[in-house]
Amino acid sequence: MKENQKHIYPIFDKMLTRMDKERLLKQHGLMLWFTGLSGSGKSTIAIALERELQAHGLLCRILDGDNIRSGINNNLGFSEEDRVENIRRIAEVGKLFVDTGIITLAAFISPNNKLREMAASIIGKDDFLEIYVSTPLEVCEQRDVKGLYAKARRGEIKEFTGISAPFEAPRHPALTLDTSALSLEECVGQLLALILPKISIGEKL
Ligand code: ADX
Repeated sequence: MKENQKHIYPIFDKMLTRMDKERLLKQHGLMLWFTGLSGSGKSTIAIALERELQAHGLLCRILDGDNIRSGINNNLGFSEEDRVENIRRIAEVGKLFVDTGIITLAAFISPNNKLREMAASIIGKDDFLEIYVSTPLEVCEQRDVKGLYAKARRGEIKEFTGISAPFEAPRHPALTLDTSALSLEECVGQLLALILPKISIGEKL
């Protein structure tokens, strides 16, 4: 036990359980972890999926750069060390949502297997599905929605993933979606087929 944990007394045994929450919501909690380059379509897919799940009466929470890097992680940059801390905190926050029975959609570059394995081990492998948004770099760079690839090429942004910092593809993602080959509707359709059986409440609850 770490020294700073010594006098922490968990009260988990007195709180309502995840199953109580799942019964209330009539769904199972799950983490969908989207990984891929900047501009690959992670957040766009998460937003479209959230709308679709809401229409099915299912509660979701999106975690992405907008609500995390501007808030809880606004003291972090893009060094290797900061990316680890970024993903660690996101995974810890995501775990709280999943433990509340919420379908949680995390959309972060999370550029290597070690980072994603850390996230999976914090959240729990049974609740974690890795979704690789595999849109090729050339397409992301051509889209350049935020103008960041041009800046990275000019050397104005250091350690930019895909240009001056590495991106390692997942080894065994639950699903791979290339948005240069699939429509948004097709991506959402494939995701629904994958997750609906996992989030639907069975007889046992
Ligand atoms: S991660 O690597 O730590 O997982 P994260 O998904 O939170 O990255 O943030 C990526 C977003 O931050 C990009 O989509 C882009 O808008 C912005 N960004 C700013 N600087 C960088 C950089 N050096 N590398 C990658 N993305 C950057």
